[in-house]
Amino acid sequence: MQPLSPLTIGQHTVPYPVVQGGMGIRVSGANLAAAVANAGGIGVVSAVGLGMHSPHFDIEEKSPKKRQDQFFAANRLALIDELQQARTLSPNGVIGVNIMVAARDYETLVATAVDHGVNLIFSGAGLPLTLPELTAHRPEVALVPIISSARAAQVICKKWQRSFGRLPDAFVVENPQTAGGHLGAKAEDLDNPAIGSEAVIPELVSYLAESFETPIPVIAAGGICDRATLLQALGLGASGVQIGTRFIPTDECDADRRYKEFHLQAQPEDIVLVPSPVGLPGRALRNPFVDRVNAGEAPGAKDQCFANCLQVCKFRDSRETYCILRALDRACRGDVDNGLVFAGNSVGQAQRIMPVAEVMAELVGG
Ligand SMILES: Cc1cc2nc3c(=O)[nH]c(=O)nc-3n(C[C@H](O)[C@H](O)[C@H](O)COP(=O)(O)O)c2cc1C
Repeated sequence: MQPLSPLTIGQHTVPYPVVQGGMGIRVSGANLAAAVANAGGIGVVSAVGLGMHSPHFDIEEKSPKKRQDQFFAANRLALIDELQQARTLSPNGVIGVNIMVAARDYETLVATAVDHGVNLIFSGAGLPLTLPELTAHRPEVALVPIISSARAAQVICKKWQRSFGRLPDAFVVENPQTAGGHLGAKAEDLDNPAIGSEAVIPELVSYLAESFETPIPVIAAGGICDRATLLQALGLGASGVQIGTRFIPTDECDADRRYKEFHLQAQPEDIVLVPSPVGLPGRALRNPFVDRVNAGEAPGAKDQCFANCLQVCKFRDSRETYCILRALDRACRGDVDNGLVFAGNSVGQAQRIMPVAEVMAELVGG
């Protein structure tokens, strides 16, 4: 069996070309990230909403202003806790953080992450056009935008070169046709072959090779769950893969055991699209919560917006859909009927909940 090549992003090299996708809220925390890093991949802590169930936040706080301030302060402190924990568990591993551009505390989270020893920042859910400026004092931190089209990569490269004299250290290309979580395409466009990895990855690889002297690796994300799908992605020209769903039914995943078991029992026919308050479709597992949303209900419409966490939010502004912070958090803590369980369409591959090291060995060939 051909050994896989190591993956280098900026100054950081790992033995296997595998990045674990950031998964909020607290699905990929310190435990999962450190386990993947220790197994020879890049482990990623998702920074979204970490404060919510941390000792730094009291959701019962009555004053909306105090509650909001406390929430953002808690997100920062909880991110520091999580990064310190990841580093304790994996002193020499390569650890990244995933920070959504759409988060209102984006700049604070980026500054916090770089000042607390992350090796890379992955950033999507919007174009991270200002990221180099926010991290200029830590040039050793690799910057990796998450995009779904070659056009978005071009916009980022041009802006970063012009304004900051820097290029991205890699791109993650998330395939909206297969990936779990928020998707970078409208539901009605998902069948269009032009947005799939088979089209976008070769187009982006050629653009980067023709335009820049420095090699910029492309990481394929979405639907990768075993050695065959990993090799397929490398065959398209990718230098590595980013995997989310396959790392959920693992001992080290930070979600509640009931969340992992729900994933374990799911089959591809349980995958559905669901609208999210940010205005994008998400890919998730069917459950009573998702059925209600897809029937046009707004579960939790009487809940308050307690943190004003997103730049754009239909729940906050017009009480449509649901509070995504609450929905993801409920699911991750084990209420899989009343929460939102994101999943990619490769769900159903795992036979049991197993250690990350075993999953990694299967992916990279033992
Ligand atoms: C439960 C779950 C939560 C996710 N949360 C985030 C997130 O907070 N930020 C992000 O950029 N991507 C998020 N994603 C996308 C993953 O990082 C990854 O790119 C994607 O899962 C790859 O597709 P796969 O699930 O088919 O492997 C999430 C995916 C899942 C399944």
